[in-house]
Parts: sequence; C-alpha cells; structure tokens
Amino acid sequence: MENSDNFNLKNLTKSTILGRVLFPSQVIKNKVIQLGKAITEDYKYRDNDLLLISVLRGGVFFFTDLLRNIDLEISIDFIGISTYQTLGFKSSGVVKITKDLEESIEGKDIIIVEDIIDTGLTIDYLLRNLKSRYPTSIEICTLLDRNVRRIADIKIKYTGFTIGEEFVVGYGLDYKQKYRNLESIYELKIDTVKKDIETIQSSSSNNQ
Ligand code: IMP
Ligand code: MG
Repeated sequence: MENSDNFNLKNLTKSTILGRVLFPSQVIKNKVIQLGKAITEDYKYRDNDLLLISVLRGGVFFFTDLLRNIDLEISIDFIGISTYQTLGFKSSGVVKITKDLEESIEGKDIIIVEDIIDTGLTIDYLLRNLKSRYPTSIEICTLLDRNVRRIADIKIKYTGFTIGEEFVVGYGLDYKQKYRNLESIYELKIDTVKKDIETIQSSSSNNQ
C-alpha cells in the first residue's frame, strides 16, 4: 500500500516532524474515485457548463486527481488567495485574491475544490466573492473537513474525510511550504512543532 511513498520516505521519515500516516495514498485514491463518481452522478443531467475551481496552491494535487475521475465535459480554472495573520488564535478571514479566475462564471455550475476546510473563513470569503459573479449554482468539494474548528456557517456538499485537531501534511498540504509532494497524508509530530502550528492555524497559513 505504501510502495509509492517509499521513495519519499527514505529521506523524509528521518525528519522529527512527520508523525503517523493518517490517510495512506491508496485510501486517498479510493476516496477520490468515490467523489468523482458522486459529482458525475449529480451533474450528468444538468445543461449548464460545469466549471471546477481549484484554490492554489495546496488544492491542486487533489484537484487534478479528482478531475480525472469525473466522467463529464468540464472546464477548470484556478484562483490564488492569501490570508492575513491576526494576533488572535483564530484565522482572520481577511482574504486577498492574488490570482483571479481567467473565465467568467456567469450562468455556470461551479464546484470549488479545496484541500482542507478548517475555520471555513477562507472559503466563506471566496463563496461570497464568487456568488456576486452570477453563477447558476456553486458547491464546495473538500478532501479534508476539520469541522471542530469551524467558525463560518458553510455548507459542504462533497467531503473526503473528516479530521480532528491534528495538523496534517502531504498530498498538497504543507508545513512551511514543505511536504506537499508526499503521496499520503501524515500527521505532524505535535510536540516538536507545537508553537509553529499554533501560529500557522491562527493565520490559516499564508498563500494557502
Ligand atoms: P480556513 O478554513 O480559512 O481556516 O483555512 C483553511 C486553509 O488553512 C487551508 O486551505 C490550508 O491552506 C490551511 N490549513 C488548515 N489546516 C491545515 C493543516 O492541517 N495542514 C496544512 N494546511 C492547513
Ligand atoms: Mg488551501
């Protein structure tokens, strides 16, 4: 099961930062297949153009795998955002668009694809911004849902896995911009990096 990770693990498990595997690559693959099927079923009789939007940067790993499991004609686009750090523990929800969509979303069915939704403040901002551009419908698909820290009242239509407080890396998710290239999702060793995690979670991570 972990064969595809062995290559990475030779060097990376030497690190004192990576903890246990939370979701092995094969488990992620199966889940992505299920999500692709669910989206295919839900949208196959709809007449509008279906546009999937990836939130840069961490979301692109999940995004490209998900797309290949959707058996429909779709278009894709990318949006880049960064969130501002606040002094408090919670994410500020103040979001800046660093790279806007290339296409108009008016009259289209939209699915925003995220790697992880934590407080929900980032996606809440995005939803409000995109809704003002007159899409016909807009839904959220996230690989990971950490609903224990949720602040914004958002409705997630497609969820891969629900997780707890643990900070995770791999399959696009980073810790200080590293570990995105791991095939599986790992928990960070909390003791060694506790201070940093608190800083990251309070800022919802700059540049996503
Ligand atoms: P929020 O939902 O506005 O709190 O922010 C979600 C964003 O925070 C995600 O898109 C990630 O970029 C980042 N993030 C939150 N939790 C984690 C984690 O456990 N690992 C890596 N990034 C995380
Ligand atoms: Mg993100």
